[in-house]
Amino acid sequence: MKFILENYNSEDNLYDCLILGFFKNNLNSSYEIENDVLLKKKLKKKIIEEKFVNKIGNILFINSDKSFKYKNIIIVGCGNKKFLSDRKYVKIIKKVFLLIQKHCYIKNVLLYLMKFNIKERDLYWKIRILIKTISEIYYCFNKFKSKKVKNKLVKNIFIKIFNQNEFNIGSQAIYHGKNISLGVKISKDISNMPPNICTPKYFAKKAKSLENKFRKKVHVEIFDSKDIKKLGMNAYYNVGLGSNNKSFMSIIHYNGAKEKNEKPIVLIGKGVTFDTGGICLKNSLDMYEMKYDMSGAASVFGAIFSAIKLNLNLNIIAILACSENIIGNKSFLPGYVIKTFSGKTVEILDTDAEGRLILCDVLSYCKKFNPKIIIDVATLTGDCITSLGNLATGAFSNNNELIYDFNESGKDVMDIIWNLPIFEEYKKYLKSNIADLSNFSKNSAGAITAAVFLSCFVDKRIPWIHLDIAGTATLKVRHGYVSSGRPVDLLSQFLLKNSLIDTIYNNS
Ligand code: BES
Ligand code: MN
Ligand code: ZN
Repeated sequence: MKFILENYNSEDNLYDCLILGFFKNNLNSSYEIENDVLLKKKLKKKIIEEKFVNKIGNILFINSDKSFKYKNIIIVGCGNKKFLSDRKYVKIIKKVFLLIQKHCYIKNVLLYLMKFNIKERDLYWKIRILIKTISEIYYCFNKFKSKKVKNKLVKNIFIKIFNQNEFNIGSQAIYHGKNISLGVKISKDISNMPPNICTPKYFAKKAKSLENKFRKKVHVEIFDSKDIKKLGMNAYYNVGLGSNNKSFMSIIHYNGAKEKNEKPIVLIGKGVTFDTGGICLKNSLDMYEMKYDMSGAASVFGAIFSAIKLNLNLNIIAILACSENIIGNKSFLPGYVIKTFSGKTVEILDTDAEGRLILCDVLSYCKKFNPKIIIDVATLTGDCITSLGNLATGAFSNNNELIYDFNESGKDVMDIIWNLPIFEEYKKYLKSNIADLSNFSKNSAGAITAAVFLSCFVDKRIPWIHLDIAGTATLKVRHGYVSSGRPVDLLSQFLLKNSLIDTIYNNS
């Protein structure tokens, strides 16, 4: 599928479908874009007849009328206000392209995006969200289907532009949008994999494959469970003990900064390829969803993939912290006291709070890279779902500017976060009788106490943000769950902006 910017005065006989949006108030001005008198007349009559413009998302599909210049025309009602909201815009794009998908003979679409006015959104944004939305619609995971029903793709989507400036902005939006959507797709493809295939080792292989694909720019280190033990990451090490699918930590280094020694942005993803809860076994109801407990690692992989493809002017390190949390005769037990990489001891009160055990060691370990920022992404707590549902990712940070920028990036790409606190006072919930900390708190505020636990392992001087994606990583659909691809868009947008404007986040 191609997105092509089409000059307003180019010969336009090629398209087999025209897409137009109409607001009630500018019915007339809408025709300025067309110089086909007959078409104008017909359209106007139709629209007035149907009185459908008032309702946002109403669609009029006109097809195979010989007198029309275009074989098919899709007219979309945009309501009686001057602007569409972000969400309504997405709704419209979805509706239109689902309709087009049904009429699979449509191959070349012409889109007048300028007709979709959205408050405070420019052409760049409209194209970015268009590409994101279309990629979402056409996403299909059929690796394990014997009969592969392929989505019928539109061949070309032509976007009408009116000047050189729009051409420049549009080209950039297409370039960014396509590469970021590719990262989202790759992340979904990994997340949706079943746990018998997608093991910690599978992640390591995926990581390693980047070295061949992007020679010179990327190098990858792989640590197996023995290495993890040797390094002193005992909390991480213990989580994987119950399984024959041993833990693997993969570290992907991308060197794209102009200055070679620039501090890296470190991304850490929780990659629990299956979480039974361990000895503190989960209920079997919906347990299969725990195959998605590696979505953090998958999204970090997707984000660094798009960063590499976009050649971002940054140094980035992505750490995929992978393990399987299951029951075996070597499984770690409730009551264990473990010395973490940091030296702090942790008493295990619940083996199902395994994510923080993996992450705490990686958070301390990554200090050796002298990070500019640390970002960790994890399906960490059921409590985060209780708090925020599947709308917003829970965000926790020791730096206000960092939270602010993430919030902005989230809104830019409609992959939103919501800030929750990590007040010092919560630390009392994590006290242990015999160790420095416990890994579980019976008190409420489970998403917060998990984040506070992590904060104990982050150097206070390093700007850090923790994203709890337990609610947002998946979508509930007809036959269970699917990966949402979140928060790849958010991460990629943050990285992209950071590469364009070098922001310094100061923790003091
Ligand atoms: N992976 C789960 C969190 C989770 C739950 C993600 C549901 C997605 C959907 C995590 O490892 C976990 O089990 N957390 C426990 C922590 C508790 C034992 C402190 C939880 O949230 O119940
Ligand atoms: Mn768990
Ligand atoms: Zn888990």
